[in-house]
Amino acid sequence: MPKVLVTGGLGFIGSNFVRRALSARPSWTIVDLDKRTYAGNPANVADLPRSRHRWIKGDICDPKTVDKAMRGCELVVHFAAETHVDRSIHDASAFLRTNVVGTQVLLDAALRLGVRRFLHVSTDEVYGSVPKGFSREGDRLEPNSPYAASKAASDLLVRSYFVTHKAPVLTTRASNNYGPYQYPEKALPLMITNFMEDKPFPMYGDGRQVRDWLHAADHARAILTVLEKGALGEVYNIGGSYTCQNRELIERVLKLMGKPRSLVVPVEDRKGHDRRYALDCGKLLKLGFKHEYDFDKGLRETIAWYRDNERWWRPLKKAGGYRSYYKTQYKGRRPQGVV
Ligand code: NAD
Ligand code: TYD
Repeated sequence: MPKVLVTGGLGFIGSNFVRRALSARPSWTIVDLDKRTYAGNPANVADLPRSRHRWIKGDICDPKTVDKAMRGCELVVHFAAETHVDRSIHDASAFLRTNVVGTQVLLDAALRLGVRRFLHVSTDEVYGSVPKGFSREGDRLEPNSPYAASKAASDLLVRSYFVTHKAPVLTTRASNNYGPYQYPEKALPLMITNFMEDKPFPMYGDGRQVRDWLHAADHARAILTVLEKGALGEVYNIGGSYTCQNRELIERVLKLMGKPRSLVVPVEDRKGHDRRYALDCGKLLKLGFKHEYDFDKGLRETIAWYRDNERWWRPLKKAGGYRSYYKTQYKGRRPQGVV
């Protein structure tokens, strides 16, 4: 019975991974170390069998808690992080603490406890904006937001533990994820849930930024592939199955939901807003990975999920913290022109 430590398994991608892994690997039991920040939600894993999934409430920056959670685990999949770019622009401190120091605490524990494989989950944002072509794993890291800089720092730390300590590490860098259980501050769930309430969606700048969309279930399958077949010390890009400008994404969602364009309000751009992300995934495909989701199917299913699960997202949007955060994001930005 392999015992696996997942960090951040109450979050969006972590909970999708835990769900997938429990069904795809029937012999696994999962210990889920999660601090339950505003983004961590026990409801995301409430349906999972307690006999195979145990949540420990704790901080990855605390060595004692980490040791307790990691003891006896063969494998570690590390998702826990502060993840929202806009929040990192307002205040980067939690990003540096969790994303950098937290990763260092986990790496030290993994060395001490003799973990067999440690997979660090990272992002395409570490490459910065790529005007043309596709980022490859050996490219220079040029992060532009404090969030991306904190993830790049954690990637370099992971690399250093491989070179210095021969730590059994792997790193994955994924593109923009979408799917069920995504906290409604990120672009797609914010758009879907605002449109459901006939509220405007704030489109940053000219809306011509390009993002690559990866379904969280495909991300989970790709992580399993890299965890089991990847070469230690290596980095693997995990791209999605569809790339488009934000404007096109908004148009698609409006059309699928039967909503008017007047719900889209252009606002002042995000500071340092990356224009384009694009990943070369040749290295991952060589491990035998294939996407299951095409974007059209994934987007329809995601919209349907938010329609069917109002009881999941409405309380999140009603919470005081969310409302004051959203005010700074939307009401604090001046509307600019028309779509
Ligand atoms: P999320 O914000 O939805 O969830 C993060 C989880 O980490 C939450 O459950 C939170 O409670 C937990 N957490 C935060 N700080 C913690 C701490 N100090 N100790 C323990 N737990 C803590 O994030 P997500 O979107 O699911 O992202 C998961 C990982 O994937 C992150 O490492 C992120 O950088 C990476 N990633 C995300 C995307 C994306 O599109 N969302 C794309 C590529 C990579
Ligand atoms: P986001 O989901 O924050 O992911 P990331 O910044 O990591 O790519 O945003 C996706 C895109 O949508 C990004 O180009 C910023 C844009 N965006 C908006 O236009 N309006 C919004 O309210 C948000 C949250 C994002």
